[in-house]
Amino acid sequence: MLKVGFVGWRGMVGSVLMDRMRAEKDFANIEPVFFSTSQTGQPGPDVGQKKTTPLQDAKSIEALAAQDVIISCQGGDYTNEVYRPLRAAGWQGYWIDAASALRMEDEAKLVLDPVNRAVLDAALEEGYKTFVGGNCTVSLLLMALGGLFEEDLIEWVTPHTYQAASGSGARHMKELIQQMGAVHQAVAAQVDDPAAAILEVDRLVSETLRADDFPTEQFGVPLAGSLIPWIDKALPSGQSKEEWKAQVEANKILGRSEKPVPIDGICVRVGAMRCHSQALTIKLKKNLPVGEIEDILARHNDWVKVVPNDRELSMSELSPVKVNGTLTVPIGRIRKLTMGPEYISAFTVGDQLLWGAAEPLRRMLRVLQE
Ligand code: HSE
Repeated sequence: MLKVGFVGWRGMVGSVLMDRMRAEKDFANIEPVFFSTSQTGQPGPDVGQKKTTPLQDAKSIEALAAQDVIISCQGGDYTNEVYRPLRAAGWQGYWIDAASALRMEDEAKLVLDPVNRAVLDAALEEGYKTFVGGNCTVSLLLMALGGLFEEDLIEWVTPHTYQAASGSGARHMKELIQQMGAVHQAVAAQVDDPAAAILEVDRLVSETLRADDFPTEQFGVPLAGSLIPWIDKALPSGQSKEEWKAQVEANKILGRSEKPVPIDGICVRVGAMRCHSQALTIKLKKNLPVGEIEDILARHNDWVKVVPNDRELSMSELSPVKVNGTLTVPIGRIRKLTMGPEYISAFTVGDQLLWGAAEPLRRMLRVLQE
C-alpha cells in the first residue's frame, strides 16, 4: 500500500480533494499521512473507515521523505520552499501538486488523464516522478475539446473566458457575496417599490459600487455588477499570465509542445462562484458537419456533455449554476460562424475546483496504483 502524504488538505482545493477521495473510497487503498504547517501533533482528519495518525510537520524533510507519494494543495510558496530540498535529500517519491510552481519544469508532467493518459503512461515508464495539475481554465478547455484535439482537427482556438471568483481564492468568493449584499442593501427599498424609477436605482447602485467603503479588499475593484478583464500578472507580450498559460500548458498536457496548437484569448473574471466558462472560436483544419463535430466531442470522455444549440437547453444546461459542484463539462453553442465553414463557435462550462483542480490529482494517484 502506498504511503501518501497530504499537505494543504484543509484549504479550498484540498477540501474538495478530500471530499472526492472520501466519495470514491480512495483512502481504502492507501496509507494516508496528513501534514500541517502549524498544527503538528494534533489529531488527523476523519477519512472514513481508517484511523489517521497525528499530523506531521509539513516542513520536515525527513517526515516528507518517508512518503511514497506527496499530494500538495498548499500552494506555490510551499512547493518552492520544500520540493528542491526534498529532492536534494535523495527522495525518489511521486510529487503530485495543485500549485503552478513546477508546471513548466522539464521534470514535471501535467496531469489530466482523460485527455493525456498516454503521455502520463509514457512518463511513468520513463521514470518521471513529478506530476502537476494544470491551470483550471486549461484543464476545463481540454476536457471539453478533447475529441477535436485527439483527432488533430484544430488549427487554432481563441478562448474568451468568464472566470469565477473561486479562481482567486476562498476569501474572494466571500467578498463577491459581500459586494452583492452591499449593492442590494443600498437599494433594497427601491427594488421592492414598484413606483421607484429604475434610473434612480441604477444611479444608487453605481454610487454604491464606486464608493470608497465598498468591499474591494480582495479583488481591488468591484466584481459584483461589473467584471474584471485581467487575471494574474502582466507579461511583456501584452497577455495576462492567465492568457499565456492557455497555449503553453494545453500543449504541454497534450505532449505537443514542439508543435503547439495556437490558443490565445482574453481572460475575464465575472461574478460566478466556482465555475469557469469559456466562449470559443475554433478554426478547424477541415470543414466538418456540426453533427460530426458533436459526435467527436461527445465520445471523447465520460464527463463532457454536448448540449444542442437550442435556446432553452443552452440557458438551462450551460450555466455555472447548473454545473457548480459537478464533474460534468457541458459544451454547447456549437455552430458554424459566418467567417467560413471551418470556423465554429462553442461555449463550455466547468467546475474549476473539480476538473479544474482536485480531480486530476486524485486520479493521478489512482494511475500510480494501477
Ligand atoms: N488562475 C485561475 C483563476 C485559477 O484565477 O481563475 C486556478 O488555475
